[in-house]
Amino acid sequence: MASTSSASVSPDTLCIDQPDDWHLHFRDGDMLAMTVPATARVFKRAIVMPNLAPPVTTVAQAEAYRQRILANVPSGIEFEPLMALYLTQDTTAQDVREAAQNPNIIGYKLYPAGATTNSSAGVRAVDAMGPVLETMQEFGVPLLVHGEVTEPEIDIFDREKVFIDRYLAPITERYGRLKVILEHITTKDAVDFVTSAHDLVAATLTPQHILMNRNDLLVGGVHVHNYCLPVLKRRTHQEALQQAAISGNRKFFLGTDSAPHVQAKKETACGCAGCFSAFTAIELYAEAFAQLDALDKLEGFASHFGADFYGRPRNTQKLVLQRTEWQAPETVTHNGETWVPYWAGKSLQWQVRV
Ligand code: NCD
Ligand code: ZN
Repeated sequence: MASTSSASVSPDTLCIDQPDDWHLHFRDGDMLAMTVPATARVFKRAIVMPNLAPPVTTVAQAEAYRQRILANVPSGIEFEPLMALYLTQDTTAQDVREAAQNPNIIGYKLYPAGATTNSSAGVRAVDAMGPVLETMQEFGVPLLVHGEVTEPEIDIFDREKVFIDRYLAPITERYGRLKVILEHITTKDAVDFVTSAHDLVAATLTPQHILMNRNDLLVGGVHVHNYCLPVLKRRTHQEALQQAAISGNRKFFLGTDSAPHVQAKKETACGCAGCFSAFTAIELYAEAFAQLDALDKLEGFASHFGADFYGRPRNTQKLVLQRTEWQAPETVTHNGETWVPYWAGKSLQWQVRV
């Protein structure tokens, strides 16, 4: 599908409608004073993932969490957190109806139990969720999906494809009016599935899955700060993701999956999954699109297609990026703790003009 673009690209500046981040992790407590401003500096809206401990399962919890986030938005900045609720095996149709009435709730996030960080309270039997999915379809509540099976016999590099075949394809066939977003896709299989599924099926793409493949995780040592879930795949998959991102197909849009874990929890024998990209997020996408000679496609992907898909207005403010070489921060410190962000210390060719 072709997109109309209002973006202006000159050799040294790129002016786009303000983007949104349709998938990220802010965490909670003191960390919000770091994570919220990092995202709000660039993005107008963000979908905030509910995998706190304990998870955000109720409208009341989401509202309280939203207020804590809003309390950390720097003054003078407009920022709208959109809350995802955590789907559990015990979520009821009545819960869904309540969620549908709250405009700050964007949908339910399905984590297969054990698939990723703080997912132990997730769904253990997807097949038993029929009545809940039925109600979500009826009330127009989107289903956001972490698309990986967790059976130990399934190879970790196949977990996304097997999830699509076993669960997602049947769900999208059965619920033709349910909005489904396959989050942080990592394979050509996911690109092909989303492309050929019905119009209410979409996907988010992270910077790390567009910019990297599994060599960046494993060649020359284990690069823990490139470790996230779903794990980086082989280069052919990366290339399919790149083509999807720059295709102008409205089913593919920006979701950073920025997911901070303190340095000590990444650089250890059993490191946590998650790439912390918020401080350089739009610049990382610009880097990727520039490498692919497709900067003119950034605006649709970053600023239009997600809003259109979720039925929200497009942003009216502009964001200007300028071509200038700079280095992503090596570390970020806050309240005596240290994080090593994704792309730490590496150069970037585009920077937001403030
Ligand atoms: C995320 C996190 O740390 O919360 N980690 C990750 O590797 N992406 C969870 C998730 O989105 O899977
Ligand atoms: Zn995530």
